[in-house]
Amino acid sequence: MSIRFEGRVAIVTGAGGGLGRQHALALAARGAKVVVNDLGSGVDGSGAGGAGNGTVSAAQKVVDEIRAAGGEAIANGASVTDSGAVQAMVDAALTEWRRVDILVNNAGILRDKSFAKMDLADFRQVMDVHLMGAVNCTKAVWETMRAQSYGRIVMTTSSTGLYGNFGQSNYGAAKMALVGLMQTLALEGAKHGIRVNCLAPTAATRMTENLIPEAALRLLVPEAVTPGLLALVADDAPTRTILCAGAGGFEQAHVTLTRGIHVGIAGDAAERVQSGWAEIGDRDGETVPESGAAQGMLELEKAMSN
Ligand code: NAI
Repeated sequence: MSIRFEGRVAIVTGAGGGLGRQHALALAARGAKVVVNDLGSGVDGSGAGGAGNGTVSAAQKVVDEIRAAGGEAIANGASVTDSGAVQAMVDAALTEWRRVDILVNNAGILRDKSFAKMDLADFRQVMDVHLMGAVNCTKAVWETMRAQSYGRIVMTTSSTGLYGNFGQSNYGAAKMALVGLMQTLALEGAKHGIRVNCLAPTAATRMTENLIPEAALRLLVPEAVTPGLLALVADDAPTRTILCAGAGGFEQAHVTLTRGIHVGIAGDAAERVQSGWAEIGDRDGETVPESGAAQGMLELEKAMSN
């Protein structure tokens, strides 16, 4: 069954280049009306200027491509860190097309340094763009999606958040925060028809040009990630899924829970935890709890059955 987006309105942040551009082009090619957002910064977030600067022209170029192919799109130069400008972007989409069905939180920057050398300012800035940027955009569409009883939201996370990478403590913290945001929004959105997922891409873009070896570059095209994004925002999308995507490969990451042990609160509890590591960590029979509260209940059940 082919995935189509006729009648759907999508916002893709950071869509002036890289992965966001591919997402925007693919959504439009399959019938979506697309807001192409990008403030046009450097990889580290520098040089952003807002309307009229070279950046908006990056978004405008993508809009021009979409229109040339017969699609519908508008450009937007808001920084995702500016909640007022983000609200104005969403209002513009509503004025133009009356709905917002899909939000792809994709905008991002890097400020890599080992933690020992990292300024708090670099930590905060990365958190602000990735985490608060996604929060600002999601907040701005949330009521509209609830009122429509329809929404598809993707947070762009990263293998760095899920598994760590040297020199990326700020980025990893921000990217894993998006997984936490997704986990709760998927629960809160469920009864309103809002599905929320995470995409963890690997692609050769300007963001990774110094990190990925030459031979791998031609396999890691952004186009090889976008099919996963399309499936995550389709009518029959899953919710609460973390999809890893790169070079045409797709995997799902889970935050799992082992069965563990019950130790209680006797004086030797710490020693029993210490001697119980193997059993606590035994992955046989591990599950993915339905919520944080459900995980807590499992511990209570273990205590009550002891
Ligand atoms: P990119 O640098 O080509 O794209 C990011 C875009 O976001 C740029 O066009 C930039 O102008 C825009 N942007 C930056 N700050 C912004 C702001 N405040 N408001 C609006 N737009 C802003 O990089 P790429 O690789 O396409 O990254 C896209 C997303 O995928 C990012 O969230 C990144 O962290 C994530 N990602 C990428 C990976 C990769 O292998 N390329 C790996 C894991 C995650």
